[in-house]
Amino acid sequence: MATKKPQTISYPAPESRPHRTDTETLEPHVIVLFGATGDLAKRKLIPGLAHLDQSELAPNIEIVATSLEDLNDDEFRKIAKSAIDSFGSHQLTTDQWDNFARILHYVPQGAGPEALAEAVARAEANLGTDVRRLHYLSVPPKAARAVIDMLREADLVERSRVVMEKPFGTDLESAIALNDFLHETFEESQIFRIDHFLGKEAAQNILAFRFANGLFEPIWNRNFIDHIQIDIPETLGLDERANFYESTGAYKDMVVTHLFQVMAFVVMEPPTALEPRAISEEKNKVFRSMLPIKTSDVVRGQFAGYRNEKGVAKDSDTETFIALKVGIDNWRWAGVPIYLRTGKKMAEGIRIISIAFKEAPRTMFPPGSGVGAEGPDHLTFDLADASKVSLSFYGKRPGPGMKLYKLSMQFSSQEIDTVVDVLEAYERLILDAMRGDHTLFTTAEGIESLWERSAELLDDPPPVKLYQPGTWGPNAIHQLIAPNAWRLPFERGWRERR
Ligand code: BG6
Repeated sequence: MATKKPQTISYPAPESRPHRTDTETLEPHVIVLFGATGDLAKRKLIPGLAHLDQSELAPNIEIVATSLEDLNDDEFRKIAKSAIDSFGSHQLTTDQWDNFARILHYVPQGAGPEALAEAVARAEANLGTDVRRLHYLSVPPKAARAVIDMLREADLVERSRVVMEKPFGTDLESAIALNDFLHETFEESQIFRIDHFLGKEAAQNILAFRFANGLFEPIWNRNFIDHIQIDIPETLGLDERANFYESTGAYKDMVVTHLFQVMAFVVMEPPTALEPRAISEEKNKVFRSMLPIKTSDVVRGQFAGYRNEKGVAKDSDTETFIALKVGIDNWRWAGVPIYLRTGKKMAEGIRIISIAFKEAPRTMFPPGSGVGAEGPDHLTFDLADASKVSLSFYGKRPGPGMKLYKLSMQFSSQEIDTVVDVLEAYERLILDAMRGDHTLFTTAEGIESLWERSAELLDDPPPVKLYQPGTWGPNAIHQLIAPNAWRLPFERGWRERR
């Protein structure tokens, strides 16, 4: 297990850009897509690239796709077409597809570095001069090193940036080793560790909400906030990813990346500017202030039937569910518990962040008035594609006397007209990586801090408890959060747009 202490690591600062400019013209790019026939490529990356190509946001691109499968250009184009038809949020007309197909090329990874270099050179020749390269490694962690070696051998490091998929290591030691290995070939400024949750509009809206308004930031601290929940149950099961999931589990698949990253947006101090270095600095301070995660603050679960899934060991100890309590030991948050929960095959698929405010003294209200009966006031963010925010509070129930009940003010991004401009998370992040903008990417230092704080849990995980598919997890989740309660399932649904 991780015994190596993290050295004081000083990474070169990511390319610093004074401010994001979303309208800047993008240099022509060859995108080299590794793992091009995999699940993520089919569901998100290929449809996303097609949309970027069509949308004029990235008009000058050529794509060199590669994977372990032995295909030619036409065979790959068929796969790409069916991926876009099945998963694309923007369907292509015949002309649009023909245009996209023309910029799609395939070279089997088995053909070696020279063949890859030639395919990239041909694609570059189609684009003219000053062409940049974006290598997207949509491959499992154990395959990433071979790809990096291949890029070096193919001499494709210059003028390039590389997007790395999670998990970034499996503990502190392996994360340090992976980062050291990457730095032998790429500068830190060339590396983009992707966390697609940060590409979601709703996640970025947390920054706007907190730092563009005078209303909430003054009460965004331990004096006014009682506890925080980040709850991301999924109804999905393994979706043919047993192989990946068995060696990953819910903590490494979801918490170390997505939940902690979103948490950092919720609790970080105001960054000095909306630029990569300032934001990474504040996020990394959050991770450094996190208390080590204690085994006794964690509930691990496994859905009944998991061990019978294809590709899963009969005695598997992998968790498909996790709930935990986290503490941030700084002036703003000391003593405020943050509860995180996520899992597969749960009762609902939803992603919420819920901020519970401290309760008011209730003495003036007569017993039975209903004050406090429905929990504290809450601010809730729903990270769905159509993101929502709600503020719930007590108000008077119309009628005689003083009876109180919970009311809420709700906002949904669907209510505004610009909603059509929304980019899917991966599209947004691929575009940012092509622009060299690290703002929404995670740093080596941040990831290493998280693994360091996870050491006790990784060394000594609590046993997995079974839960029935379609539920909210094992019963122990209630003890974990007591005397508070999980916000989900909601007692009232969101109001739908009329
Ligand atoms: C991925 C995880 O990163 O995120 C999956 O590997 C998970 O297990 C997915 O289902 C959830 O992402 P989203 O955007 O669909 O909520």
